Amino acid sequence: MNAQIDFESIGIGFGTSPLKGEEAARAVTSAIEAGYTLIDTASRYENEEAVGQGIRDSGIAREDVIVQTKLRGHDHDNVRGALELSLEKLGVDYVDVWMVHWPLPMLGLYPQAYEEMITLQEEGLVRTLGVSNFLPEHLDELKSRTGHVPAVNQIQVDPGIHRPELRAELKNRGITVQSWSPLSKGGDLFETEPVKSAAEAHGITPSQAVLAWHRAIGAVPIVRSTSEERRKQNLDAIKVTLTPAEVEAIGGLPQRELGEWDPRTHDER
Ligand SMILES: NC(=O)c1ccc[n+]([C@@H]2O[C@H](COP(=O)([O-])OP(=O)(O)OC[C@H]3O[C@@H](n4cnc5c(N)ncnc54)[C@H](OP(=O)(O)O)[C@@H]3O)[C@@H](O)[C@H]2O)c1
Repeated sequence: MNAQIDFESIGIGFGTSPLKGEEAARAVTSAIEAGYTLIDTASRYENEEAVGQGIRDSGIAREDVIVQTKLRGHDHDNVRGALELSLEKLGVDYVDVWMVHWPLPMLGLYPQAYEEMITLQEEGLVRTLGVSNFLPEHLDELKSRTGHVPAVNQIQVDPGIHRPELRAELKNRGITVQSWSPLSKGGDLFETEPVKSAAEAHGITPSQAVLAWHRAIGAVPIVRSTSEERRKQNLDAIKVTLTPAEVEAIGGLPQRELGEWDPRTHDER
């Protein structure tokens, strides 16, 4: 099994939280029909069965879709059992990307969990290992305990929290950045001047301008929409190239603090 996944050429992934049941299955089928090839879920989203159903309903060949799921905090000491359950719920023989969802340093179990994930990858149940919400200190700990560098780190990135130092550090280590909540959940961002003017200049929507900004900074946004039209529109952002001035202006928006999402203290299991 080829462990290499070219996230850069995938460009934009489809997020499935907090969709559940029929709505999640329909959204995944329609996203794949629109051209998304990377589908992001997590055991914590409680929608892996629906995501698996949506993938099957689309008729796409298994090898043509990247199925990405995550190990939740409650399972840092139940790694094999957690993967077996995710595979069963998704209805697949392997996952393409398996991530540690949060480091949860207060538990101190993520290096040991990751070691077991490496074993499961060696058994062919996982193509590529990744992490989510990891800071350099957590990556250092993983490296020293397992000798391993994850292929990808899914972190909170949007123009209001764009984390240039962390992204540069990940780039130095050869780790792909995926942005979660890339539209900041579709809030006030679309009304900001740099986003509106980039959208106007290119004849695109504010959402497309923000997603093009993610691509310009070298991140792979994982975006969710319940609307068929907006799903297509978001994927079309791959075709947009912003000017360096537009990228700088969007990245120059006022920055928020990590707050409750700080991985050193965030306790989401
Ligand atoms: N690793 C982690 O810890 C973590 C944490 C959070 C999220 N995630 C992942 O990241 C994914 C995306 O994050 P998210 O769902 O929180 O936020 P998001 O993708 O930034 O924003 C989703 C919101 O934006 C709206 N939207 C989407 N496209 C739009 C468009 N073209 N125009 C206007 N509004 C648009 C959606 O509304 P409509 O549905 O009405 O279009 C929805 O309300 C999640 O689904 C999940 O897979 C991971």
